[in-house]
Amino acid sequence: MDALKYQSGFGNHFATEAVPGALPVGQNSPQKVPFGLYAEQLSGTAFTAPRAENRRSWLYRLRPSAGHGRYEPCAQPGLCDVAFDGPVTPNRLRWDPIAIPEAPTDFVDGLRALAGNGDVATQAGIGVQLYLANRSMTDRVFQNADGELLIVPQQGVLTLVTEMGVMTAGPGHIAVIPRGVRFRVEVAGPSRGYVCETYGAAFKLPDLGPIGANGLANPRDFETPVAAFEDVEAPTQVIQKFQGRLWTAQWDHSPLDVVAWHGNFAPYRYDLARFNTINTVSYDHPDPSIFTVLTSPSEIPGTANCDFVIFPPRWMVAEQTFRPPWFHRNVMSEFMGLVHGAYDAKVGGFSPGGASLHNPMSDHGPDLASWQGAVAADLAPHKIENTLAFMFESRWTLRPTRFALEHSSLQADYDACWSGFPKAVLP
Ligand SMILES: [Fe+2]
Repeated sequence: MDALKYQSGFGNHFATEAVPGALPVGQNSPQKVPFGLYAEQLSGTAFTAPRAENRRSWLYRLRPSAGHGRYEPCAQPGLCDVAFDGPVTPNRLRWDPIAIPEAPTDFVDGLRALAGNGDVATQAGIGVQLYLANRSMTDRVFQNADGELLIVPQQGVLTLVTEMGVMTAGPGHIAVIPRGVRFRVEVAGPSRGYVCETYGAAFKLPDLGPIGANGLANPRDFETPVAAFEDVEAPTQVIQKFQGRLWTAQWDHSPLDVVAWHGNFAPYRYDLARFNTINTVSYDHPDPSIFTVLTSPSEIPGTANCDFVIFPPRWMVAEQTFRPPWFHRNVMSEFMGLVHGAYDAKVGGFSPGGASLHNPMSDHGPDLASWQGAVAADLAPHKIENTLAFMFESRWTLRPTRFALEHSSLQADYDACWSGFPKAVLP
């Protein structure tokens, strides 16, 4: 594979070739593709999806990827044989970071499902997973036929070797692998992060409304790798997640053999430090939707299958205002993670690599110490620094897995962070 190079833009129709002359000009599937490459269309939306939503790419590869044998079921208890039939609890849940195993574990073996909603068969909802890995995938690649993967590294830099090129993503970046795209994950050491598996619509940039033409995540800051390929004639295990289960087939070559491609269905990464954070300059804390990076819409306008929201470093300048997130109950489900630093609504207990889940209509907000600090604070302009929290917010209740509910990292005393608030005193 070639050195890392990227093309800028979100959802652009890219055209890229690792070998000069490999990309056909003027048509998608000529009778004779340059060098005898095989043309293959990869559709990310229905053929007839409206043009603004339509996503597809044309891949030009050394061999047709149809040339493989039968897939057989394979086990990965942490990802697929998980039960979502545990008691769905209205209780607020929070987990300490789950340790990265010491036994050799790659990205696929290290996936641990924490929660999910919707249904892979009807293409609605999300799966929320952790990855806990300490070695690179070798002689095997992964493909998720159930959904797009939004990867949020928390520890360690990932190298994502995909059919359509190579990209890196470490803490502070996100990486998105479209549904069905095959890839291998290489790690440089112990690695941990979060994954949102989107069964519904692919992530896209949110509308900006009165914000105007600029702001939040700007399209040019998204980076898609240029074409790169490997020509490996060696047995390669191809693992795919299909309808909630893993399947495996042995290919006689690497499927990462795309020499050129063009289209708008492709992996990308984004540096969250480039997010143009918008906040109040007068009073009150805006709804956290002001921090939306990407959204996977549902069929109800404004009610997302999943919003990906971040809480990055930012200035706090609101006057006469309780500045941290307020107490609230929300019809949406909120799964939160922390990449580094501290979250401004919790003084302790929410650690980098940890997680929390607040399902619909559960009461939550600042803990006692955060509230005490905020009501006593001098409201001079103040910058929150060295922090990066995020939220997967979904319209459907997130059902935690038995793994998540029974793991020792689940905090037994989370409710206690909201105890001890003094009662208001009436005149
Ligand atoms: Fe919340």
